[in-house]
Amino acid sequence: MAFNLLKGKKGIIFGALDSNSIAWKVAERAFEEGAKFTLTNAPVAMRMGEIQKLAEKTGSEIIPADATSVEDLENLFAKSVEILGGPVDFVLHSVGMSVNVRKGRPYTDLNYDWLAKGWDVSAVSFHKVLQTAWKLDAIAEWGSVVALTYIAAQRTFPDYSDMAENKAYLESIARSFGYHYGIRKKVRINTISQSPTRTTAGSGVKGFDAFIDYAEKMSPLGNATADDCANYCVALFSDLMRRVTMQNLYNDGGFSSMGVSELVMKHFGTD
Ligand code: NAI
Repeated sequence: MAFNLLKGKKGIIFGALDSNSIAWKVAERAFEEGAKFTLTNAPVAMRMGEIQKLAEKTGSEIIPADATSVEDLENLFAKSVEILGGPVDFVLHSVGMSVNVRKGRPYTDLNYDWLAKGWDVSAVSFHKVLQTAWKLDAIAEWGSVVALTYIAAQRTFPDYSDMAENKAYLESIARSFGYHYGIRKKVRINTISQSPTRTTAGSGVKGFDAFIDYAEKMSPLGNATADDCANYCVALFSDLMRRVTMQNLYNDGGFSSMGVSELVMKHFGTD
């Protein structure tokens, strides 16, 4: 169902890789709600060609940018403002990658060059996006910026490895920059802490299938899907949530407030 929540709004959506990507669903929902936006991803991700389909479907232009490159980000914001006809109202940062996780390196034997790379891609890139927008004055007053995160920033999930630190850093940037952008332009900056979701990035975590099943059994409402996340993003981009900022918002079916559930207890054979 569409409510025209984003009618007349302009945005930039990072991170749509294929139709499983959370950013893909956000783009589809934002389009349904009347938004115009540009799509961006790392040049290497473009080669898979999937994003073209999304661009056609949503009438969007694609502007390649490595989210760790300030030069690429400057080009992205300048071109987006030009194409969309003014500063943007919303930005989705849906970017994450750990080389240590990808290569199966144990947390107690991290490769620090890989750690630095993953930190830059997954966390510092968010600061780079915000600082670039700030310098170019490319986000309109009352704009809304959302980045995606995971509860491993607060609790320990062994296989999430150095991504836990990256997400903690990302969430902190939302608070720190949220202050400055709030004062200057009333721009809101939040993170959504999403349930485990079957995507390319999600499935890269060891034991993901068992884990998603565990989270499902722990959450009274069940895991939040990528579509649920898209709806939450649209709500945050809309004018209905104008004074929500500097928050880490759980979209997880209740998981973050649970200790243990009956379904999980049953699994261990208790009566
Ligand atoms: P995905 O693999 O579809 O999206 C990750 C995106 O990051 C890809 O489009 C990839 O091309 C992009 N990316 C990687 N390096 C980049 C770079 N240097 N520059 C620009 N883009 C780059 O997976 P998903 O799950 O949709 O991930 C989106 C976000 O959601 C990530 O921040 C992830 O950590 C977060 N998240 C995912 C969860 C899950 O279980 N899938 C749970 C909670 C948060």
